[in-house]
Amino acid sequence: MKKLILLTALLVAVMAFAACTAGGNQEPERRTLVMGTSAGFFPFEFIADDGRGVIGHYAGIDVSLAARIGEYLNADIVIQDQEFAGLIFALQSREIDFIAAGMTIRPDRAEMVNFSVPYFTAGQRVVVLQNAPFNSVADLEGMIVGVQLGTTADIAITDSHTEGNVTFQEILRYNQPVTAIMDLLSGSIDAVVIDAPVARGFQANYPDQLHIFYDPNNFFGPEQFGMAFHLEDTELLAEFNEVLSRLIAEGYVDYLYNYYMTEFTPE
Ligand code: ARG
Repeated sequence: MKKLILLTALLVAVMAFAACTAGGNQEPERRTLVMGTSAGFFPFEFIADDGRGVIGHYAGIDVSLAARIGEYLNADIVIQDQEFAGLIFALQSREIDFIAAGMTIRPDRAEMVNFSVPYFTAGQRVVVLQNAPFNSVADLEGMIVGVQLGTTADIAITDSHTEGNVTFQEILRYNQPVTAIMDLLSGSIDAVVIDAPVARGFQANYPDQLHIFYDPNNFFGPEQFGMAFHLEDTELLAEFNEVLSRLIAEGYVDYLYNYYMTEFTPE
């Protein structure tokens, strides 16, 4: 009898061990990650109502990138679409797990979030009407300028104004870039400062009306985009970085840029 009990105990132990090892070999459990973004920023995130959405009806470089990373990390990515200016707060309060929103890596932001490796190089452009007498950033002096609220364009224009560098009649801060472009087209503002690829997207939609000004003196300076994570989520950051670095090296981001710029037009 004693032997039988011992044998049974041994068997149970072996089975428990086997179950453990099997469990250890299993894929990490499927999880859901909430991506915070701000759509209306073609070619990075926009609503594709034509059935070509990648996550729900959302498409764009950031959306495709996140979806691909999710495949590698065995995670379902869901999107929280909101105002750009509130994204960092949403991350800090854990409403979202990461930001993918064409967000420029900046030292002041890096105190509030951890940035991934940079995945895109951009910079600001000035969008004006075709016939506008505009030859340099200094021509913005006294103009009404539109920017998206809380963006690097907003910061650059506001700094320039307060430092007395180039000063404006008015700075209008929009939640949606497209609203600024509509105001430019209707003539109620003079210029919109926005990231180069986004400017190119709008220009493609209104080739006869819009002109993109690139400042050869680099008034705005270069910018790099990164995904952003909660300061405590260093493991998630490392997981993303590993996959993201590989995708960049494989040319996937370049591919996505070309794909979206040639196959789509902004909403
Ligand atoms: N790159 C700029 C910034 O980081 C603008 C980003 C706006 N993104 C968006 N999804 N609307 O401030």
